[in-house]
Amino acid sequence: MKIDPRHMDYRDAHHLLIGAIVPRPIAWVSTVGENGVFNLAPFSFYAGLSVKPAIVGFAVGSRRDGSPKDTLRNVLFRKDFVINVVNEALQDTMNTSATPFPPEVSEFEKAGLTPARADLVKAPLVAEAPVSMECQLRQILEFGEFPNQSSFIIGEVLLMHVKDGLLVNGAIDVAQLKAIGRLEGDNYCRTGDRFYMQMPRNSL
Ligand SMILES: Cc1cc2nc3c(=O)[nH]c(=O)nc-3n(C[C@H](O)[C@H](O)[C@H](O)COP(=O)(O)O)c2cc1C
Repeated sequence: MKIDPRHMDYRDAHHLLIGAIVPRPIAWVSTVGENGVFNLAPFSFYAGLSVKPAIVGFAVGSRRDGSPKDTLRNVLFRKDFVINVVNEALQDTMNTSATPFPPEVSEFEKAGLTPARADLVKAPLVAEAPVSMECQLRQILEFGEFPNQSSFIIGEVLLMHVKDGLLVNGAIDVAQLKAIGRLEGDNYCRTGDRFYMQMPRNSL
């Protein structure tokens, strides 16, 4: 079967794409609004883009009526954000934070999470998260037309926070991290089922 997403409506194309791009990591993004309210929301169109400088990016779609989500408005205003890692212990609070609350309502309060002061950016860390990355806005790439715009927010990681004991020989211990990922629809995966396979090495 061959499917051309250019001729599908938004919802059908979305379903198709998120079933093909799996498993997806979740950027749990904290920001501060123009009104000073701490905002938090998950985004799974998320990737690492460069190591040195450390660059990450995630895509924020528009709301059904074409209006921007709070995360995009806040990043445009404050020019920074924090990406927190979601583990199994935080899955329910992450899901609560995806509720489209109005800008004056903090997802931190609604989900019972603790905002912690970052060192270098205005956005708060999720104190309960195992790993958090303080990011400065670098660039935003815009795609699509009203009401289906998507903004790919690209930031430089200025500082990483890793909970004590998680770092083993300079790497984050995935067995302890217990990160979760997003699949199609409302389906998720855990990272408990892993296997080892060494990448081919050559002499170049
Ligand atoms: C696991 C998960 C992943 C999500 N990924 C995205 C995404 O990649 N892009 C997006 O626009 N919305 C995504 N959403 C929906 C947003 O989290 C949701 O629209 C949220 O209300 C946005 O909040 P804000 O208005 O505070 O920015 C995702 C939701 C969940 C639960």
